[in-house]
Amino acid sequence: MPSGEQIFNAAIEQQLGGNLGEAERLYKIFLADHPERDDAHFGYGLLCLGDGRKEDAVRNFERALFLSPGNVDYWANLATANFSMGRIADAQYAHLRALRIEPGNTEIKKLREDFAARPHMFGEGGIQSAHAPARQVYMSAAVDLLKDTAAPLRILEIGSYMGASLQTWADAAERLYGAETEILCIDPWGDTGAAQYRDKVCGALESQVAYEIFRHNAKLAAARPNISVTGMRATSREALPFLGELRFQLIYVDGGHFYDDALFDITECHRLLAPGGIMCGDDLELQAHQCDYDFLQANKAADFIAGDDGTEFHPGVTLAVAEFFGKVSAFNGFWAMRKLEGGAYAAVDFKNARGLLPVHWPGNLQRLARDQIAENQSLDTLVA
Ligand SMILES: C[S@@+](CC[C@H](N)C(=O)[O-])C[C@H]1O[C@@H](n2cnc3c(N)ncnc32)[C@H](O)[C@@H]1O
Repeated sequence: MPSGEQIFNAAIEQQLGGNLGEAERLYKIFLADHPERDDAHFGYGLLCLGDGRKEDAVRNFERALFLSPGNVDYWANLATANFSMGRIADAQYAHLRALRIEPGNTEIKKLREDFAARPHMFGEGGIQSAHAPARQVYMSAAVDLLKDTAAPLRILEIGSYMGASLQTWADAAERLYGAETEILCIDPWGDTGAAQYRDKVCGALESQVAYEIFRHNAKLAAARPNISVTGMRATSREALPFLGELRFQLIYVDGGHFYDDALFDITECHRLLAPGGIMCGDDLELQAHQCDYDFLQANKAADFIAGDDGTEFHPGVTLAVAEFFGKVSAFNGFWAMRKLEGGAYAAVDFKNARGLLPVHWPGNLQRLARDQIAENQSLDTLVA
C-alpha cells in the first residue's frame, strides 16, 4: 500500500508525463485524506488549468490560498485562471495581492502589465468571432474605402458583445484611416435579449463576463492614437432614436438576429448614415435569392438554423437585408453597401482596398483568414 506522500508524488509524476486522468485520480485520493495540503490543491488546480477546466482551476487555487494566503505563485496562477475566463477584475485583484506580498516581484509585475495590454479574445465559447476569420479583414477594408473622409470618422456598431469587432474597427481606423475616429458601441450586454443566443453566449452575457471583457477591450481600443470609444448600454430600439440623422460614415449591424430587430436596425441606420458612407453587417451566410422564400418566412424569428442542405445561417438577417436592399455585396458572411447621394445604395467592391489581418488573433486563425482572402481574390492588398 503506497503512503500518502507516495500517492502525491505519483500524481505529480503522472501530471508531468501528460497522463492527466491518472494524475487527477491520484490527486483526489490524496486530497480526500489530506485536505489541509495546499500544495496538492495547487497542483490539482494546475492540472485543471492545463486541461481547460478553468472554473475547477480557480476553485483549487482558492483552496490552496485559503490554506496558504502568503503564496505568491498561488495568487499568480489564480490571476491567470481568472483572466482566461474574462474575470478581469478578479485577475487584477489576485495580482495586487501577490504584489502586496512581494512588491518587488518583477515576474508578477510583468504578468500584470501583459494582461492589461492584451486584447481579450477568449470568450467562454472559444475565440470571439473565430467562426469567420475573413470577415474581420473585410471589415477593415470597409474602413480603407473611407480613408479620404474628413475627420472625425464616426463609426456606429450595433452589437459589440466582448469587443472583438471593436478591436478590428480600432485597428483599421488607426492604421488605414489615421485621423480622429469616434466609435459608438450599442449593446444591452445581457440586460435583455441574452436568451436569443445559444448557451455559451447567453451565459457570458447574463453573467456579465461579456461586459467585463468588452470594457477591457474598449479601454485598449481607446488607448490607440486618435480613437475614442463610447459604450451605450441599451438595445438599438432604445438607443438609435436618440442619434442625429446622417451622423455616421460607417455603421456595422451585428445586434439582434431576429427579422424584426434586424429590419428595425437597418431601417434606422439608413437614417443615421451619411451619403458616401457604408452600412455593413455580420451573419449573412446566405442571401434570400439563395433560399426558399417560404422557408425564410417560416423561420424569420429564429436566431440560427440549418437549411435543407445543412448550410447554417441566420434567416432573420437574410430576410431583413433582402427586404431593405435586395441583393447586397457579401464576403464570407460579411455584407456591405455604400449609400449614394439621394439615399440609394450601391454594391461595395474591395478590389482596390487594403485589408488588415486581425493581429489580435492567434496565428492559426490569421492563417485561415489569409487563406480565405487568397481564395476569394476580392481584395487588393492584405496587410499583416
Ligand atoms: C453576435 S454578438 C456581436 C459580436 C460582436 N460584434 C463581435 O464580432 O465581436 C451580438 C450582440 O448583440 C447584442 N444585441 C442583441 N440584441 C440587441 C439589440 N436589440 N440592440 C443592440 N444589441 C443587441 C447582444 O447583446 C450581443 O452582445
